[in-house]
Amino acid sequence: YNFQYYQKDTSEVSDFEFDKLLEELTKLEDEHPELKAPDSPTQRVGGTITKEFDTVYHKYPMLSLSNTYSKEELEDFDKRVAKGLGTTDYEYFCELKFDGVALSLTYENGLLTRGVTRGDGTRGDDITNNVKTIRTIPLRVNGANVPEIFEARGEAFMPKDVFKNLNEERISNNEEPYANARNTTSGSLKMQDSSIVAKRYLDCYLYSLNGDNLGVDTHSEAIGLLEKMGFNVSPTYRKCKTISEVLTYIAEWETKRLDLPLETDGIVIKINSIAQQQELGFTAKSPRWAIAYKYKAENAATRLENITYQVGRTGAITPVAELEPVLLAGTTVKRASLHNANEIERLDLRLGDMVFVEKGGEIIPKVTGVDLTARTPDLTPVEYITECPECGTALIRHEGEAAHYCPNVKGCPPQIKGRIEHFIQRKAMDIDSIGERTIHLLYEKGLVKSPADLYSLTYDEIFQLEGFKDLSTKNLLKGIEASKEIPFESVLFGLGIRFVGKTVAEKLAAYFKTIDNLSNASFDQLIEVPEIGERIASSLITWFNAEENKEEISRLREAGVQLSFVEDDLEQASDLLNGKSFVISGVFEGYGRDELKEVIKSNGGKVISAISGKLDFLLAGDKMGPAKREKAEKLGVKIITEQEFNAMLSEG
Ligand code: IVH
Repeated sequence: YNFQYYQKDTSEVSDFEFDKLLEELTKLEDEHPELKAPDSPTQRVGGTITKEFDTVYHKYPMLSLSNTYSKEELEDFDKRVAKGLGTTDYEYFCELKFDGVALSLTYENGLLTRGVTRGDGTRGDDITNNVKTIRTIPLRVNGANVPEIFEARGEAFMPKDVFKNLNEERISNNEEPYANARNTTSGSLKMQDSSIVAKRYLDCYLYSLNGDNLGVDTHSEAIGLLEKMGFNVSPTYRKCKTISEVLTYIAEWETKRLDLPLETDGIVIKINSIAQQQELGFTAKSPRWAIAYKYKAENAATRLENITYQVGRTGAITPVAELEPVLLAGTTVKRASLHNANEIERLDLRLGDMVFVEKGGEIIPKVTGVDLTARTPDLTPVEYITECPECGTALIRHEGEAAHYCPNVKGCPPQIKGRIEHFIQRKAMDIDSIGERTIHLLYEKGLVKSPADLYSLTYDEIFQLEGFKDLSTKNLLKGIEASKEIPFESVLFGLGIRFVGKTVAEKLAAYFKTIDNLSNASFDQLIEVPEIGERIASSLITWFNAEENKEEISRLREAGVQLSFVEDDLEQASDLLNGKSFVISGVFEGYGRDELKEVIKSNGGKVISAISGKLDFLLAGDKMGPAKREKAEKLGVKIITEQEFNAMLSEG
């Protein structure tokens, strides 16, 4: 199915069925590690930890390309080629220059045996386990034309939308966003835990094939073979007969490339015939048969008019450069991020400076430097603010963090409004009948100071707000009402606990099932959850310990917001067992164990593993151990038989 999905773009099973199969396979491999195949689909989800990557030598050195930025230099290159070959009978093969991380993939008898970084070009890091998590890289290739041993090379990258999502998640967790997709790809591939790499959804475009007896005479045939073997090749390439055709290709892709799913920074021009490539050979650093044409970095110079400071929902202060409007990569730029006080100091900024702004793979443009030649002596260094621009509270800086914070959590307006905005957003409570402006109005009128306040709003209170009429008032109330059906994991995310992004919230909700279990969990219990580290655990403990948060939870509960987890892949058969918890023990006549669990869950009940005073039923099958019965009796837990259980279900 993986092969069909990633190599053939077809899919014959639902994601759910696929996940089930993968789960089953993982379990089988755990039980029988000797049967685990090197190309097992479980490799895609990772799980191996590499303390230190082995350094390995490249069979063929990984060279770099010489760069040019001008048409004239390209024409010179063409002249050198013609001279070197002593003929004008040659073709070019043009590709985009992908801005990622070069990878070398070795296949032996069809099996991916090694994935290595470029390193210094002679030797790189063996990151095979991490490479295997890149789903479009085949773990095995089959077919008549597959060379016995070959090395495929390509560029690993993080697709733009993945990068954007990752950063949105980081921002909503109050973490610094990553600077650009390339560095993030590189950082991801060097991570020790391959299961985290798997979640980075990296991809890879292949652009070269090395080996003996490959049966190809041209680069375009090599690319064709890579495609046939199921590798991911960007469909943007073109064969060009002359350098002027190359120039047309360059002009065409200058803007079209901005719509590609990944960052590109130029074009790679290669001689198509492999015999001619060999004839031209290499310099010490790069091939004579290829060159990279780089598009000019998208930057501009403009005046820094002011620096303003934004206060985020956690009180973090972000300085923003207010610029004289300037055209950059097709859009007018007026503001650029300055990150934090250190960055302002590093750039040694002064108001009135001419600054360089750049727009690469980043979400917001950034200030990259100052034109010192344009600086006049009257400009003085920027002094960072010491008080919150919104509420006047003295700012603090946490040990080891670059950002300044406004500590006035309860009283600083943008923090209060920010928490409500975070709560109502699509990924959380999805109350789209409320916007930023409404939150502002509600806050100004003193109607809403925390998310829970939303649930006690009345028709009259909303109706009197500026711009509200009967229909819009009803709509808003309807939206709030509907949010009571939003699942627990989204509610948990909406609470805005530091470092608890959507994914973490999902993990926590599925693990602890209820907000009470989660809020009562100790630090040690929290870090036991896969992927929950110390940082998240401490943040949760701090949050749940604060009185105002306890109060908030109890008000949300009263309002009827979902605070327990419901398995969503189950079709609900009935709610006969709603809220009832079961421990299953022994063997049963009418059900297998998993089947029994499903039946309980699909009728609204919960299956837990340990007997405690809070447990509703111990469902006792044949051969249940005496210790369990004793414990249940001691704690006053009701013990039921299979027949009694069936009777509970037939009540409806
Ligand atoms: S061919 C001799 N093709 O650019 C090097 N490289 O500066 C032959 N790159 O390390 C490389 N897109 O990481 C080639 N279509 C493409 C490429 C490409 C990006 C990178 C690659 C290489 C660097 C060379």
